[in-house]
Amino acid sequence: MKIYFAPMEGITDGILRQTHRKLFGGVDTYCLPFHKLTQSMTLTAREKRDIDPAENRGLDVLPQALTRNPEHLLAWLDEVSGLGYTRADLNLGCPSPTVTKGGRGSGMLRDPGYLLSFLDYVFSRPLPLGLSVKTRIGYEHPEEWERLLSILADYPFDHVTIHIRTMREQYTASNHPEAFEAAVRAGIAHPVYNGDLRTPADVAGLLSRCPSTEAVMIGRGLLADPSLARQLRGGAKASREELEEWYRLLYDGWNRRFDRVIALGRIKKLMEWPSEGDIRCRRLLRRARDMEECIRAIS
Ligand SMILES: Cc1cc2nc3c(=O)[nH]c(=O)nc-3n(C[C@H](O)[C@H](O)[C@H](O)COP(=O)(O)O)c2cc1C
Repeated sequence: MKIYFAPMEGITDGILRQTHRKLFGGVDTYCLPFHKLTQSMTLTAREKRDIDPAENRGLDVLPQALTRNPEHLLAWLDEVSGLGYTRADLNLGCPSPTVTKGGRGSGMLRDPGYLLSFLDYVFSRPLPLGLSVKTRIGYEHPEEWERLLSILADYPFDHVTIHIRTMREQYTASNHPEAFEAAVRAGIAHPVYNGDLRTPADVAGLLSRCPSTEAVMIGRGLLADPSLARQLRGGAKASREELEEWYRLLYDGWNRRFDRVIALGRIKKLMEWPSEGDIRCRRLLRRARDMEECIRAIS
């Protein structure tokens, strides 16, 4: 089974990707957070650094675009291909209101007619690399999935990542694993399951419901337990020492790249993931003034 590390804007940067591979591994492909394509087609400094091959040395990465303009997507694919990448992804999942109100991300799912013409335009050109898509299952209602699925099934995507929620459901408890099973039944090319895989037992549950699952994408589960992919390959759960090293290396990397305040803010957010629901630990973390106090808070 193939394992993708989900893109998470503001979290899964090159420092996190490289440190993860070095300490834990188990992931096949690291997905880059989206590039928001604009009229001027200039990437931000953060986006340029993130896609720089030097930043991703030794990693298999999948760059991602957020746009509703097919010309912008085609121009970006040329750029990405020029950097030596052979695959890229289109974001149809971002639920942020600032993104969806412009009809991008999961905002594109609100108008299947437009999605159809967008994909027709893109796929009528010879593409310089393999294009995949990461989608939610609808905008308002899960019932929209049937129509969206029939549209997506008509195009030669490299793979289709399915986050089993609608835009409205954001990141809430409500989700629809049966939407993935419907995609497998519909014969969609290389479906990738995404959503709420937090433990090896969650993945085992998915495989028993849907044994033909070829690939999964994991985000928050890998933030809460960076050894999750390794465990899925038969390896060990992270030891306390390994976790401490993980946090220290990340903090040092972010401190070097940004500054102490940014590094501390980022590391605190990351360290909150394993202690979800532990109010005391969160309070201690929020009050921590340096890395040593952060480490004490989680132990
Ligand atoms: C902070 C944050 C940032 C995210 N950024 C992106 C992004 O740039 N591109 C994308 O396709 N999905 C993004 N996502 C969605 C995740 O990739 C993933 O689909 C979602 O977290 C569900 O998977 P999980 O339950 O395994 O975390 C983001 C999610 C979070 C929480």
